[in-house]
Amino acid sequence: MKSALIDRVCSAFDGFYGRLPTVLVQAPGRVNLIGEHTDYNDGFVLPCAINFHTLVGACPRSDRRVRVLAVDYGNALDEFGLDDPIVQRADSPWANYVRGMVKKLREQGFGLSGVDIAIAGNVPIGAGLSSSASLEVAVGQLFKTLCGLDTLSPTELALTAQRAENQFVGCQCGIMDQLIAARGEEGQALLIDCRSLEARSVPMPQGVAVMIVHSRIQRGLVESEYNQRRHQCETAARHFGVNALRDVTLDRMQVHAKGLDPVTMRRALHVVTENQRTLDAAEALATHDLLRMGQLMAQSHVSMRDDFEITVPAIDALVELLQSAIGSQGGARMTGGGFGGCVVALLPATEVSRVRALVQTHYRSPEGHLAHVYACHPSAGAGRVDEIRAI
Ligand code: GLA
Repeated sequence: MKSALIDRVCSAFDGFYGRLPTVLVQAPGRVNLIGEHTDYNDGFVLPCAINFHTLVGACPRSDRRVRVLAVDYGNALDEFGLDDPIVQRADSPWANYVRGMVKKLREQGFGLSGVDIAIAGNVPIGAGLSSSASLEVAVGQLFKTLCGLDTLSPTELALTAQRAENQFVGCQCGIMDQLIAARGEEGQALLIDCRSLEARSVPMPQGVAVMIVHSRIQRGLVESEYNQRRHQCETAARHFGVNALRDVTLDRMQVHAKGLDPVTMRRALHVVTENQRTLDAAEALATHDLLRMGQLMAQSHVSMRDDFEITVPAIDALVELLQSAIGSQGGARMTGGGFGGCVVALLPATEVSRVRALVQTHYRSPEGHLAHVYACHPSAGAGRVDEIRAI
């Protein structure tokens, strides 16, 4: 945990509430190595939590009020009562992640108590690194810690956060982002079965770096395109007579292709092939086969570009640049929901500065921006932070 972030939360808390927080909790952002748009098809994903966090500092109150200071939004304040109806705030979208979590915890019957909160984070916002899931999970972790919600397991916490996002914030996301924010493990990627929610840790091989390159391309239309893709996947599953595309094989798809329009067929093809690639990638990573891993990442990108159609030309060019710079020593692909955002690359740690320099020389976004490059390592999921700084 970066000490600058702890200092920022502690000093903002002190400045506003006149004392230091007594509890600090964190939840990380995430990057998905492979398995895109498979989570809401009951499929497989292979993300890792990253060393960028949302940090929440808090002190219990003796009444039933919740006060929330958003340090990254110019110390904007939200306040509500635990016994009042919890409604959305159109004027400050950030507040809805907090309100949604509290509302969903309350609906599940958890006993919550009043609290003063300050929140700050260093997960890049709007980059596709799940800053919102990180915020939801951090808020859930805070109430779990503060109110002793021992029955709220990390998986239940993630499901509650997903409900908050689906039913309160209004985004129909799958479970991947919240689950990895809650259950991430230091040094490990997690192969998650999004149907059973079982996860198997896959160690990141020694000396391999996880590089995230933010294209600086504004992610336009993400929500409407995302919902449309979800809808197309559901249509395809119905056509093939299964609950979710997880249950279709390529053979069955070919036999029953008749009657399904070609676009919906391509969407299904992406999901079905991506599920298999994700299982194969977990194997490749576990056996340190970076050549195979790179091939699977390349195929995943092509499938997102041609079949699922969620990439944009500048991202395709950035991926090609990274792939040729990395060669057979790793791989690169777009990561996250699509239409801009970030590319993830796996490469030898010793190559990071060379590849970073190449990206800075040869890549510009359509608006002329340099990429932001982050060298990350797989990190632990949400939890308590022990250090509280005296200012
Ligand atoms: C977003 C969603 C996830 C997942 C990815 C695509 O990040 O929040 O649930 O569907 O897109 O893999």
